[in-house]
Amino acid sequence: MESNAYLLGTAIPELQRLELQNELWSSQTEALWNAAGFGPGQHILELGCGPGFSSLALAQRVGETGKVLGWDRSQGFLDHLAARAEESGLPWLETFQGDVLSSQNPALEGSMDGVFSRWLLCWMKRPMDAIETAHKALRKGGKIVLFDYFHYRSLDLLPHNDAFRHGLQAVENAWYAAEGNPDVGTILPNLVEEAGFEIEHCKLITRYAKAEDPLWQWPMSFFPGFMRQLAVDNYLTTQEAEDFLAAFRASEKHPNGLFLAPPMLELVAVKR
Ligand SMILES: C[S@@+](CC[C@H](N)C(=O)[O-])C[C@H]1O[C@@H](n2cnc3c(N)ncnc32)[C@H](O)[C@@H]1O
Repeated sequence: MESNAYLLGTAIPELQRLELQNELWSSQTEALWNAAGFGPGQHILELGCGPGFSSLALAQRVGETGKVLGWDRSQGFLDHLAARAEESGLPWLETFQGDVLSSQNPALEGSMDGVFSRWLLCWMKRPMDAIETAHKALRKGGKIVLFDYFHYRSLDLLPHNDAFRHGLQAVENAWYAAEGNPDVGTILPNLVEEAGFEIEHCKLITRYAKAEDPLWQWPMSFFPGFMRQLAVDNYLTTQEAEDFLAAFRASEKHPNGLFLAPPMLELVAVKR
């Protein structure tokens, strides 16, 4: 594992999971960019871009007169993004390797039209630092666009099952132990206002899936590997991890089985 990897790692399986996750959430993401007015010719910074599936889409959106900078602390993820940008003929998409919290930032002061960040702030001990970085990088009138977890415990599975709730608590425990916050969306509106932004759009996205729906693949691409890892790390026993996964198989077979995705916060705010 890369030494500075986040809790879920930066190896190929996580990269593939992020690709699937991007596909499953791309229509919500594109709609949010529309709400923010992201479009041709703009300069957009993506904070915590990971392997950059959204940065590639942003680069298509701004076109050759625009610019996209994908910033992440994983060099492995950024190498993937740079290769994909080259293959796709998108030289106006560039990468920057570094921790959003470090002082070695690219010189962007007041130059960006937009900053986008999805599923980064939930991994940060001090999300305000990233919001302040965004504020500095934006010109007046520029927009910050955030998309992140709002209330993880609202994730649910039908029929209800105690082993499922127990396993979900273990996921939250590991998340907090990694100094992240699975409910970061609950504090983001206050943080962006404190940083000097004015909120233009703020909404919760709730989704659900039956086993035959594409979104069902989202928890399936995450929980089997992660629950077994949590058992290795002693957040729960191997049996508890297997019982959690069995609850998904039971739900999959049940005629009224349902997965309720955790609500996401989407927010657009303008720098005045
Ligand atoms: C869940 S992934 C999300 C990737 C991408 N935003 C997406 O929507 O697919 C979280 C990303 O945040 C990055 N990350 C976490 N903490 C960071 C930090 N302090 N500075 C820079 N990147 C960070 C990780 O390396 C990882 O690529």
